[in-house]
Amino acid sequence: MAAPKKLFIKTYGCQMNVYDSERMAEAMGAQGYVTTEKAEEADMILLNTCHIREKASEKVYSELGRLKPLKALNPDLKIGIAGCVAQAEGEEIMRRAPVVDLVVGPQSYHRLPAMEARVRAGERALETEFPAEDKFDHLPKRPLPNRAPAAFLTVQEGCDKFCAFCVVPYTRGAEVSRPAARIMGEARDLVERGVREITLLGQNVNAYHGAAEGGTWSLARLIRELAEIDGLERIRFTTSHPNDMDDELVAAHGDCAKLMPYLHLPVQSGSDRILKAMNRKHTAADYLRLIERLRAARPDLMLSGDFIVGFPGETDEDFEATLDLVRAVGYGQAYSFKYSARPGTPAAERPGVSAEVADDRLQRLQALLLEQQRATQASMVGREVSVLFEKPGRLPGQMVGKSEYLHAVHVTADVAVGEIARVRIIESGPNSLAGALA
Ligand code: 5AD
Ligand code: SF4
Repeated sequence: MAAPKKLFIKTYGCQMNVYDSERMAEAMGAQGYVTTEKAEEADMILLNTCHIREKASEKVYSELGRLKPLKALNPDLKIGIAGCVAQAEGEEIMRRAPVVDLVVGPQSYHRLPAMEARVRAGERALETEFPAEDKFDHLPKRPLPNRAPAAFLTVQEGCDKFCAFCVVPYTRGAEVSRPAARIMGEARDLVERGVREITLLGQNVNAYHGAAEGGTWSLARLIRELAEIDGLERIRFTTSHPNDMDDELVAAHGDCAKLMPYLHLPVQSGSDRILKAMNRKHTAADYLRLIERLRAARPDLMLSGDFIVGFPGETDEDFEATLDLVRAVGYGQAYSFKYSARPGTPAAERPGVSAEVADDRLQRLQALLLEQQRATQASMVGREVSVLFEKPGRLPGQMVGKSEYLHAVHVTADVAVGEIARVRIIESGPNSLAGALA
């Protein structure tokens, strides 16, 4: 038997790309490929790209420059570009980079095996349509060997919100929800293979409205049904738009024990003027009221968010309003970005703020968020949390897992991967907590 061909995938960007890379590896597995961590030994290299912020395509071209010499060493090596840069700039990549053999958009991964065959026959292949069929129906089932105890599961793709800065509605297309039965089946399958925690993914996941027998399921309904699966202990979802947080979903945070008390709920800005210019369709007060309702349902809810500084037209006063909102909410952890003009989005046409001003605001915002993160982490010391153990730690006898609040927790104890145990937190480090079995 010939040695299996080797596939190297480099993943950029969001968790959905992580999930997609896994599924691409499985699709290629059915073609006789095994994955490798080493680009040098690969017969096929896929770059699963991200287009959300600046320099995405430059990154791709410089990575291609690094990979090109490998083709001289292995004439059978094929190189492909997947993900959102492929979707947005696929044709240009084909023109500019002869080293690329295939370009595949995020909705076409089920076509990868057929594309691989074409590429092996000497063609170059490009697929960036939004095909009518559901890619997930055509991707092979996940392979059987036991999996890490925490898994991602994409339930929804695309976005109809059209925030003025964002390329997602263009690269991932309109909102599509996967049918509920498919998700339930995939979840049961994952649990049978040892998964205890599932994070439901979608670009705007709380807009989920999947076809189900007898009607449509909301995200809250889906979560409640998933919670009935024996052996599935933890459910999370990401990422959400405040306007799609309905009452049912708020309530689930209070009465669905398997839904973890950690919520990523981006607000982007604390200034109503900027929120309007961003086409967010809510005010800072709307967001704060929503947080209040969520905390009424689940008092220990830990919040995370996304912020953009330097959006076109943002004044000092607007930025101060963002800092005020951050102080009012108190985030456990959050992401902040300098605004980056994305070609084709409405905001890209507007004059931006200067780079110095944006840099300065980013620094100030990040300092505040870091302070909140440290304080939150420090406040865990002395508390008891539940930890899902995911892998051995660096020290002998040590295991690492995640608390319900997504903190990494190190414990020296005789526990197995996949086990959930109560842990008393003893110490808070810069990026993780240390504890002992309670
Ligand atoms: N510039 C900067 N940040 C952006 N994001 C999305 N588009 C842009 C952009 N053009 C950020 C938002 C979003 C997160 C995933 O990325 O904060 O919530
Ligand atoms: Fe982009 Fe999220 Fe806005 Fe959709 S809701 S346009 S994905 S930032």
